[in-house]
Amino acid sequence: MGKFLPYMTKDYSIGLFNDDVNDIYHSAFGALTEAYEKFINPISSTFFDKEAINLLDICYGIGYNTKAFLQKVYSTNNSIKKINIDCVDTDNELIEISPFIKTKINFIDRLIHKNQLFKNIQNYNEAKKILTNNSNIRNKYKIDEFINIILLKNLIEKLEGRNLSKEAKNILSKNENRTFFNKNMLFLYEFLSKNEVQLVQKDFLSTFVHNIYYKYVSKQYKLCNKLSDKVEFNINFYPIDIRQHLKTSQHKYDIVLLDGFTPAKCPCIWSVDFLKKLSTLLNNDSVIITYNTSAPVRNAMKQAGLNIGNTIDSNNRFIGTVASNNMLLIEHPLSEAQEGLLNTKAGIPYRDNDLSLENEAIISNRTLEIENSNLISSSQYYKHQKEGTK
Ligand SMILES: C[S@@+](CC[C@H](N)C(=O)[O-])C[C@H]1O[C@@H](n2cnc3c(N)ncnc32)[C@H](O)[C@@H]1O
Repeated sequence: MGKFLPYMTKDYSIGLFNDDVNDIYHSAFGALTEAYEKFINPISSTFFDKEAINLLDICYGIGYNTKAFLQKVYSTNNSIKKINIDCVDTDNELIEISPFIKTKINFIDRLIHKNQLFKNIQNYNEAKKILTNNSNIRNKYKIDEFINIILLKNLIEKLEGRNLSKEAKNILSKNENRTFFNKNMLFLYEFLSKNEVQLVQKDFLSTFVHNIYYKYVSKQYKLCNKLSDKVEFNINFYPIDIRQHLKTSQHKYDIVLLDGFTPAKCPCIWSVDFLKKLSTLLNNDSVIITYNTSAPVRNAMKQAGLNIGNTIDSNNRFIGTVASNNMLLIEHPLSEAQEGLLNTKAGIPYRDNDLSLENEAIISNRTLEIENSNLISSSQYYKHQKEGTK
């Protein structure tokens, strides 16, 4: 597992960058907004007429989809009396990401207050000089990782109190200071100091609960607390491969939020076999909701026996896919062109027979299948489409 760098997204919720997979986990436009747009808004309003809901959050990460779902439930009038949520993510540490951030901040506090060198720093240039000239200190305190916050903390304390002044921002944005400042750290520190974040490290449930400190969510959480008397609420965390969970789970789910990395990175959760297995854990009026609109995923869903359709945003743009055993739950069926694409090479799905292959093997098997296929390519298909409309 790599190192996580939190960053501020445009709606002020925190996103994560993982330097191991070299990828972000959340949209820079807004981690929480994305959860709403892609996963919660597409849920039909009649879904919330149920008395009991069993939700499966696949690839929980730091739980925006679950949180947004709960916010939705608690902020609308409905008859729900019981909610069970199963959250699955291979990455145990992620569920505890916020205490991880806290540990860092504590460490920095200690470093600044206990170490004479830092204690007596009067200004930014002085701090920079000490750190440039002293590789022992850099190594001892893993300064490369923490330097940004240390210097930033100094800047903020010395220059202007809690918020970043123009002067501090000027220093931060100078090219020559690049080696000392990391934009992500700046965002993080700004966020933490503005929100006076206090985090706790207890069991999974409290970790989940305090994750809700994120801006916007925290307000709603207070509301949730008030209303939670009305609803019997249960949440379980499974730090395992979702394929393992599907093999052992006895549950039937009313709704599944499927938010893994793209098929090119993590095909094991988009294969025909995976979706077939998942469909056996659905009720007749259950839905799977995902951001993914790609041809191999949609074709895999079809081959798994599911009915599929588009999810759309408020501007009627296609933003994802909904799948269900029940055809009547598909509000926006695929267009003819979208359906046609599934029957091209691009639509050849991923396969993972007994749900145990490595991602690399799943990808190379599909590449081989594409090479040996007689289907037309997607570009030929688009060309035919274009000619047909002339
Ligand atoms: C895009 S992130 C999910 C973001 C998340 N929904 C959130 O709200 O923070 C993808 C997640 O998939 C997890 N993951 C990858 N492969 C998995 C697998 N086979 N089973 C379960 N989780 C997996 C990763 O650990 C990562 O947390």
